[in-house]
Amino acid sequence: TCDPKKVAVVGAGYVGLGTAGLLAHLGYQVTGIDVDLDRVAQLQRGEVPIHEPGLDALLAAQGERLTWTTDYAAVADADVVFICVGTPPSSDGTPDLRYVTAAAASIAAHLDARPLVIVNKSTVPIGTGDFVQRILEDNALTFDLARHTVVSNPEFLREGTALADSLYPDRIVLGGSTEALDCMVKLYAPLIEQSFTPPPATPRPEGFTRPAVVRTTLQSAEMIKYAANAFLALKISFANEVAGLCERVGADIEEVTTGIGLDTRIGLRFLQAGLGWGGSCFGKDTQGLISAGDEHDYDMPILRAAIDVNYRQRRVVIDKLLRHLKTLKGKKVGVLGMAFKPNTDDLRDAPAHDLIQRLVQLGARVTAHDPIAMPRAAREWAHLTYQAADSIEAVFDRADAVIIATEWNEYRALDWAAMTHRMREAVIIDARNIIRTPLAAEIEQVGRAVLKAGPVPS
Ligand code: NAD
Ligand code: UDX
Repeated sequence: TCDPKKVAVVGAGYVGLGTAGLLAHLGYQVTGIDVDLDRVAQLQRGEVPIHEPGLDALLAAQGERLTWTTDYAAVADADVVFICVGTPPSSDGTPDLRYVTAAAASIAAHLDARPLVIVNKSTVPIGTGDFVQRILEDNALTFDLARHTVVSNPEFLREGTALADSLYPDRIVLGGSTEALDCMVKLYAPLIEQSFTPPPATPRPEGFTRPAVVRTTLQSAEMIKYAANAFLALKISFANEVAGLCERVGADIEEVTTGIGLDTRIGLRFLQAGLGWGGSCFGKDTQGLISAGDEHDYDMPILRAAIDVNYRQRRVVIDKLLRHLKTLKGKKVGVLGMAFKPNTDDLRDAPAHDLIQRLVQLGARVTAHDPIAMPRAAREWAHLTYQAADSIEAVFDRADAVIIATEWNEYRALDWAAMTHRMREAVIIDARNIIRTPLAAEIEQVGRAVLKAGPVPS
């Protein structure tokens, strides 16, 4: 019988760090394992390698319940092992499983006589649970040690709100054998019953009772993850497609999405039109589902269209700019926001990357700013020739146009009148629809009428 007390979490990225923090907070003894020596050294010093609101405090509060290592020996001691390593897209768009394969082989080498549940939390192609099961069986000391141990428990957290999403999830999806799932339900009991004390920075939302638990097969659990992300992605693309028509017929996308989203069958969330989705998940997972279809000679045209609309949106913003400035040669264009969404430093598939690249190609001089992600951009976007702004003002100074690429609260709260005053030509492309009142500037938004230059507010 399973009575989980010790947990190992393999991979200390956005998902692994959150999972380790959550499980330690629920009272388990957690060992985090990562192959990145620098990352582990940082964590051992008490530094958190990513920006995620509340995570520093949550990890610091765990004390001895949470330790970090590069040594897989911790697996031998654990009752449950979570695989949270990356599954980035390969050059052909299919998910690269090399990290999952390596992690499974390392785990297998440390299986001993104790029963163990191995949980796949990474987002993986349908069939990977069986694949991991085989790696374990092939590499374990004896075949019996590894049988029926793999569970799929996909992760639905969003970056920027990862802690609240993990502590108060809508549902917990579990796929695998009855015995292994019983063990997972035991492990998650404090989460399912919401019997833990909420961390100070992440209180329980009003009205939240408990997550639903979905028990299913490995394949269905894996499919749920891909289908959930693809559905959210296509919801956003739908809003963006309708937004384009709104601009042409004189309708306002914000009012339209409110009007349709109030139908509870549709829902208000994930209908925000703008620059489209970015990040490490939506593009990768939508493409991953299409690739899964290809493997079975099964076309998924809705998903292909969702991707087309999404990346078209990045070009639409440049077209809007060109309509105002005619040419970008020698013009100074400011970009506000580099991370793929607010409250994270993650730059993976960030729309701002493509914007900056295209602006530079068209001859613009680009100055870009982000409240958190600039140091990371200095490392990861060294191939882009833009100027990193040392202040928000520097983005506006003598600029011909400014594009809002990420809707950080810092930008919502700007003294826009003072900022536009610094510009040479006051053209603002508000690609996230955050400006609400007319300014002494031409403001182009997405799916709404151009906000004409108004008087400078006194
Ligand atoms: P990440 O790139 O931030 O972190 C992955 C970590 O795994 C890195 O620290 C890396 O050093 C480590 N690693 C690689 N190989 C390893 C090995 N063999 N042994 C131990 N550690 C190893 O990735 P992430 O964003 O946390 O995503 C992890 C998985 O979760 C992916 O499959 C992703 O699709 C999925 N997911 C991500 C999110 C998200 O918002 N980031 C949300 C839900 C699901
Ligand atoms: C997403 C899923 O939401 C989450 O469940 C999964 O676990 C990982 O992938 P994440 O990528 O962290 O999470 O952020 P999310 O809030 O979903 O935003 C993704 C992208 O969509 C961002 O670029 C965001 O700006 C964009 N977006 C989101 C919109 O353009 N409009 C919206 O209405 C919502």
